[in-house]
Amino acid sequence: MSRSDDSLVLAIETSCDETAVAIARGNGEIIASEISSQIAIHQPYGGVVPELASRNHNLQLRPLIEHTLRGAGIEMHQLAAIAATAGPGLASSLLIGNTTAKALALALDKPFYAINHLEGHLLSPFIGNHDDGNDAIPANLALVVSGGHTLIVNIRNADDYEVLGSTRDDAAGEAFDKVGKMIGLPYPGGPEIDRRAREGNPKAFDLPRSMIDSGDFQFSFSGLKTSVYYLLQKLPQPLDDAIINDLCASFQEAVVEILVAKTMAAAASTGASLVTVSGGVSCNSRLREVMTAACEKNGLQLRIAAPAYTTDNAAMIAWAAAIKHGQGADPTLLDSDIDPNLKLN
Ligand code: KG4
Ligand code: ZN
Repeated sequence: MSRSDDSLVLAIETSCDETAVAIARGNGEIIASEISSQIAIHQPYGGVVPELASRNHNLQLRPLIEHTLRGAGIEMHQLAAIAATAGPGLASSLLIGNTTAKALALALDKPFYAINHLEGHLLSPFIGNHDDGNDAIPANLALVVSGGHTLIVNIRNADDYEVLGSTRDDAAGEAFDKVGKMIGLPYPGGPEIDRRAREGNPKAFDLPRSMIDSGDFQFSFSGLKTSVYYLLQKLPQPLDDAIINDLCASFQEAVVEILVAKTMAAAASTGASLVTVSGGVSCNSRLREVMTAACEKNGLQLRIAAPAYTTDNAAMIAWAAAIKHGQGADPTLLDSDIDPNLKLN
């Protein structure tokens, strides 16, 4: 990727419940990133309803593309490439963004790039690193923690990923959301637990650190979730605010301890000097704090995705596509499929 590459890549992200559009320059600079959130639509159901998600992408996407182009002062004919998330995610949601991007690419006669959503998260800590030219993605040990995934990945460069560990059951964000729902907090539980945990005592309840000493880089959060469930049966109902805050702090502390311990062990095993953290849960204030302290203690550099790029967004998809476009990667065929279970490798 050359620094002088000012070609424009427009990317669409619709893998779950956020409709998002972004534009990156070929050098990786993000010049527009817009998100139309559906949280309010799914909140009454306590989770994402796939059919509502895809129908709302269908309604929101075209106006959002126009709004993004207008806001950036860019005309459609100036675009050099179009990208969209091809998976993993909800099939009916992925199809909306994918088909729209392909239609644009066809109409404009420009290349189309199908991007792996996980690759978008993985590379997101480096968004804005466009001054580094070909070294935009240095080798690092990556923790991806989102609503759908918990992965530890050895990144050798922008195209060379080795998954070292993942979750056997719930993803970290999913555990936050399910525990939030059990306690009676609004969806999504993650940000709410983060906020309430600041007022609570992380030592109030003794919750398990599942698999922390398993000697590998695998995770399991369902036992922790079940422990919260049984604990709730013993607590006086309705829960008062102080107990809710203590529950949030104790649960969050257990998740953060597990995530940080496994990341440090993986960094030691690969000899990494740089650790990166991305995905919705990387927004968590306690995770950022404990990970920062652990990296300092172990002499590791740390790069956490900027808060705006932690939860689902199209900037990370545009950034990944800009890297591919800049490196002269082959575009994706327009008759390619989406893949709800797309893996990293
Ligand atoms: O990356 P993301 O938008 O979606 C997936 O690709 O899955 O992540 C969404 C997840 C949700 O589970 C949400 O509760 C969690 O990220 N999350 C948080 C915080 N902000 C978002 N979890 C803990 N603390 C937060 N501050
Ligand atoms: Zn995501």
